[in-house]
Amino acid sequence: MSSAKFITFEGVDGAGKSTHLEWFANALRQRGINLLVTREPGGTPLGERLREILLNQPMHAETEALLMFAARREHVEQVIRPALKSGTWVISDRFSDASFAYQGGGRGVPLAKLEQLEQWVHADLQPDLTLLFDIPIEVARQRLSNNVSLDRFEQERGEFFERVRQAYLVRAAKTPQRFAVIRAENAIPEVHQELAKIVATF
Ligand code: TYD
Repeated sequence: MSSAKFITFEGVDGAGKSTHLEWFANALRQRGINLLVTREPGGTPLGERLREILLNQPMHAETEALLMFAARREHVEQVIRPALKSGTWVISDRFSDASFAYQGGGRGVPLAKLEQLEQWVHADLQPDLTLLFDIPIEVARQRLSNNVSLDRFEQERGEFFERVRQAYLVRAAKTPQRFAVIRAENAIPEVHQELAKIVATF
């Protein structure tokens, strides 16, 4: 079945994307949709090992970009494509838009280099839909401050996240037909209402 959809969730750390992803996945399941939830970096045994390194080990910005795409290569081949091919929908907690936002916007890796990697790793595969959880950075930082331990990205300064947020919004503006931008500072029931409208379109 070629109608299985590939949906990605994106946003700065602290936007609440993971909580909303769970709700969204359950809502789809309730509609009888067979789906797989996965994440990046990660999603495969090698990808999860790379995640460990990426979240903890300081490295050059371009090394970071290369490792993100290396993990993605495994993920696309081993998990995403086979699932879609067998008719299973895939929801991924982050995908390449995160590389454009964090490594591109946040760290300053040239977009042309990231575009080359994107071409290399998944030229013929793009998400059917990307939910971008957009939130003012002060609000996201406030939410993160409740976490006991912060990873290498979460420890970055506010300005880093401002650049990440802007890069996400630029990316959404470039391909608006693929993106749904969700105002993530709204109360949870309001966000769920927006998500329910999207679920109802399937
Ligand atoms: P995240 O979804 O925030 O994991 P958790 O909710 O468990 O903290 O993802 C981990 C981090 O990886 C996040 O800070 C963003 C970063 N990241 C990139 O910088 N580039 C990428 O391409 C991806 C997929 C993630």
